[in-house]
Amino acid sequence: MSAKRRILVQLDNDHFPSVFDRVVAIDAGVEELFSYGGIDPEHVESLVHGAIFTRGPADLKSTAIFVGGRNVTRAEEIFHAVQRSFIGGMFRTSVMLDPNGANTTASAAVLTASRHIDLAHAKSLVLGGTGPVGQRVALLLARQKSAVWVSSRSIDRAQDVCKAILDKVPDARVFPTAENAADSAAHHPEQFQLVISAAAAGVRTVTQQQIQSSPALKLLMDLNAVPPLGIEGIQVTDSGREVNGVLHFGAIGIGGTKMKIHKASIARLFQSNDQSLDAEQIFDLALRMEF
Ligand SMILES: NC(=O)c1ccc[n+]([C@@H]2O[C@H](COP(=O)([O-])OP(=O)(O)OC[C@H]3O[C@@H](n4cnc5c(N)ncnc54)[C@H](OP(=O)(O)O)[C@@H]3O)[C@@H](O)[C@H]2O)c1
Repeated sequence: MSAKRRILVQLDNDHFPSVFDRVVAIDAGVEELFSYGGIDPEHVESLVHGAIFTRGPADLKSTAIFVGGRNVTRAEEIFHAVQRSFIGGMFRTSVMLDPNGANTTASAAVLTASRHIDLAHAKSLVLGGTGPVGQRVALLLARQKSAVWVSSRSIDRAQDVCKAILDKVPDARVFPTAENAADSAAHHPEQFQLVISAAAAGVRTVTQQQIQSSPALKLLMDLNAVPPLGIEGIQVTDSGREVNGVLHFGAIGIGGTKMKIHKASIARLFQSNDQSLDAEQIFDLALRMEF
């Protein structure tokens, strides 16, 4: 019997399903792409049942679900609704969550950092650590045993992120820091080995003056591609450029790694029908990839 065609069901909370995610799906080997926009959690069950009750259980590894969209909180709800709609381990498909690229971007950032510094012995600062990307960067760094400072304009929001990480990684060394307190860790990026700026597009987080001639700093990374970049002195295409002994990575510089991780994650969905790929699973897959 011939293999079934690989079908990806794209559930996107934006009105128009992401063209970016659609192109990556095709480039990752998807043969049929069913794209749905404007998805809310209450839409999910009937769509999932359409996916799991058509092909026999042995063929369900050739159907998979991708959850995306710019509203990251809504996408997480949709991701959970998808999993609640499966019937046992037989009537289900693999599913991946990557809202606004947050999981694949965070995985690319932490993977890149892990290749250049020993995270378990590094102090890391995540600026803009409360956004979808920053939260995941902090989580993945904590799983790699780095001590992580999560920075925000609000100490309460930073604390909430730290608590959520501790729920998942009980032995995590995570600490909140407030950007608006002059004596806080967030104001002293020069004390850290790794600084990743994941603040909103166009927001400056670190000035040259703060980081010049720091003996501690090993790696600076900025995920914002919109001028002004978060970390002054980084260029958006930096991919390991060394300045005074500090490696620099910009948003486009890690973009190639992000794309490879995204495509490999989609391809992985079709290996079995029982995978749920969130940040941790996507990162673990990236760790095993060859670049
Ligand atoms: N390279 C890629 O492939 C890729 C993919 C996705 C995203 N990105 C980039 O990654 C970065 C993070 O994405 P995201 O979606 O997580 O970002 P986001 O939610 O827009 O912002 C992240 C955090 O930045 C802080 N922030 C917002 N406005 C600020 C301001 N005016 N001043 C200081 N801090 C401010 C907020 O934290 P508080 O309110 O708690 O302070 C917010 O939680 C963005 O620059 C985005 O463009 C890159």
